[in-house]
Amino acid sequence: MTKKLFIKTYGCQMNVYDSTRMAESLAPHGYTPVDSADQADLVVLNTCHIREKAAEKVYSELGRLRLMREEKRAAGTGDVTLAVAGCVAQAEGEELLARAPFVDIVVGPQAYHRLPEMLTRRAREAGGVIDTDFPLESKFDLLPQEIEAPAPVSAFLTVQEGCDKFCTFCVVPYTRGAEVSRPVADVVAEARRLVRRGAREITLLGQNVNAYRGEADGGRSFGLGRLIREMAEIPDLLRIRYTTSHPRDVDDELIRAHRDVPACMPFLHLPVQSGSDGLLQAMNRKHTAEQYRRVVDRLRDARPDLALSSDFIVGFPGETDEDFQATLRLIEEVRFAQAFSFMYSRRPGTPASTMRKQVAPKAKAERLAELQALLNRQADDFNRAQVGRDVPVLFERPGRHPGQLIGRTPYLQPVHVEAGDLAIGDDTIVTITAHHAHSLAGRLVRKQEEVLA
Ligand code: SAH
Ligand code: SF4
Ligand code: F3S
Repeated sequence: MTKKLFIKTYGCQMNVYDSTRMAESLAPHGYTPVDSADQADLVVLNTCHIREKAAEKVYSELGRLRLMREEKRAAGTGDVTLAVAGCVAQAEGEELLARAPFVDIVVGPQAYHRLPEMLTRRAREAGGVIDTDFPLESKFDLLPQEIEAPAPVSAFLTVQEGCDKFCTFCVVPYTRGAEVSRPVADVVAEARRLVRRGAREITLLGQNVNAYRGEADGGRSFGLGRLIREMAEIPDLLRIRYTTSHPRDVDDELIRAHRDVPACMPFLHLPVQSGSDGLLQAMNRKHTAEQYRRVVDRLRDARPDLALSSDFIVGFPGETDEDFQATLRLIEEVRFAQAFSFMYSRRPGTPASTMRKQVAPKAKAERLAELQALLNRQADDFNRAQVGRDVPVLFERPGRHPGQLIGRTPYLQPVHVEAGDLAIGDDTIVTITAHHAHSLAGRLVRKQEEVLA
């Protein structure tokens, strides 16, 4: 009998990857994906614990799902199994079941390959089933591998999980555990399968992806730069990206990969969080603002068309106006094509949550607004500078009307193009004709013979 599955994904790209793998592991057990929770027999919330808001969202969503289930039961139109996966599941475990006892399954990010068997157990036993182990076996070895369904043009591939950095504000080292890298051969084999299924761009994922150290043949181990070179050997893989990197782990080999590997895209998400050395130290970021600037310079020397994206936190405990000004200065100097910025959120169990001198909410909000105004101006400048240029575009999805396709530039900007006989998965050169708030418009560069005709 086919059963219907709805997965709602919160948080980072790694959760997006995990959701795909969960769906694949449930497919052989008769689950097919649907577009909304009210059609589903099984609803999985794949959750994020990074900031308080993200974590609280899960409980309001669970409240809604519980009501929906009660209505269904009362009307005799079916039943729903509710599962919570991801980082809230890992961080709260038993607590989550105490606060939301109507939840059927709680499964952590390292245990979701066991979902099918947890569902069977749940059907037999009363009460919530919970698994937040960091099992000895690797889920990657046990998840289904030979998938037939088409892959997206731009696919994610987790190569590294966990984090040993312990920034004082961050829950990830607790929810995802210690750094573990997948062997090179496994990563390359998964990449080849994705390309065979239609992927043309692969983003290598890790909480700290450039700390990657994967086992290779002959007792060797490869870093991320070397892994990118291996990936570049795969025919039909046009673009390689990676996220998220730590400034401390950008090594010479990775910089050389940016210089030498054409498929390695000239766009890099490199979080800095703050431009103040005092705060960087209090955050335990393990680098200074100057070291960050130097890493950026070296990357830009190797690849002059490199553009950067970053993450910023305002209102970290003890942040003074001077600290904040230092962050603005760093942004002015480095210039970012895009960025994410957040008000500091106190997370239980992290060292920063008990630091004295927490910043008042009003100051946080004002700083965030000022920071975002600057970052938005820079993003706008960057996008506007593309107008009139000829840029490579990889088509990913249909546009609003027939004949139109939406693709991305190397800098991940969406471009709307009248694509003629080109199809999703094709790449071509496009002249950028206009820039809008969140996208660009472009025209196909006419082929030489058309120009002559
Ligand atoms: N591994 C990645 C980031 C993971 S979290 C890295 O090292 O950059 C993504 C972003 O969320 C972080 O870069 C940080 O800017 C933000 N973040 C993490 N914890 C936070 C907290 N407690 N409050 C506000 N923002 C936070
Ligand atoms: Fe969190 Fe810092 Fe690790 Fe990134 S490097 S996941 S911010 S602890
Ligand atoms: Fe959130 Fe977990 Fe990713 S806390 S950001 S889903 S690693």
